[in-house]
Amino acid sequence: MGQAISSLWRGITYRGREGHYAFILHRLAGVGVLAFLVLHVFDIFLMAFGENAFNDFLTLYTNPIARVAEVGLIFGVVYHAFNGLRIIIIDFWPSTTVYSRQLWWLVVAITLVLTLVGGFFTLRHFFM
Ligand code: HEM
Ligand code: HEM
Repeated sequence: MGQAISSLWRGITYRGREGHYAFILHRLAGVGVLAFLVLHVFDIFLMAFGENAFNDFLTLYTNPIARVAEVGLIFGVVYHAFNGLRIIIIDFWPSTTVYSRQLWWLVVAITLVLTLVGGFFTLRHFFM
């Protein structure tokens, strides 16, 4: 157990800096979106059991905790998409590697703006 925690800690801290955090966030976002997709395949599948089964299950998503999780989903989809494009650009045009840190900060800025805008519309009826 102690060994697992210390190797996890080394995994989080062994290098630090942008490239490493970009990678950790990319993996978390990818796995997070995948987890939502599994739930989402299940909710769409409920359509086969009629309107009521489908609508009853969808009330789950009106819960405040689910709403906050949806903001997390916006963050995950946007970060993974734009950071994925950053990785693709660097893979195809290796000379752009020298700008990889700047490109990552650009990805972070785009992600924060779109998450704030999306988050505002997702959560606004809790405040108004
Ligand atoms: C909270 C945000 C989302 C909402 C409200 C939503 C809503 C829906 C709805 C209503 C459908 C059924 C469309 C139909 O057959 O009439 C659907 C299908 C689908 N969604 Fe989403 N979705 C969301 C996010 C996502 C995300 C993030 C992904 C991918 C990771 C995704 C993947 C899919 C797929 C693969 C289908 C099946 C398409 C098909 O069978 O035609 N959705 N979604
Ligand atoms: C705009 C759409 C997407 C783009 C451009 C994209 C891009 C990428 C790229 C370039 C990688 C490789 C990362 C690397 O080389 O280190 C990757 C990994 C991954 N993607 Fe995506 N992706 C997209 C959508 C998705 C979606 C919808 C999911 C989940 C349903 C997903 C899940 C993952 C996972 C789990 C990994 C592995 C992460 C890792 O090895 O750390 N991706 N993606």
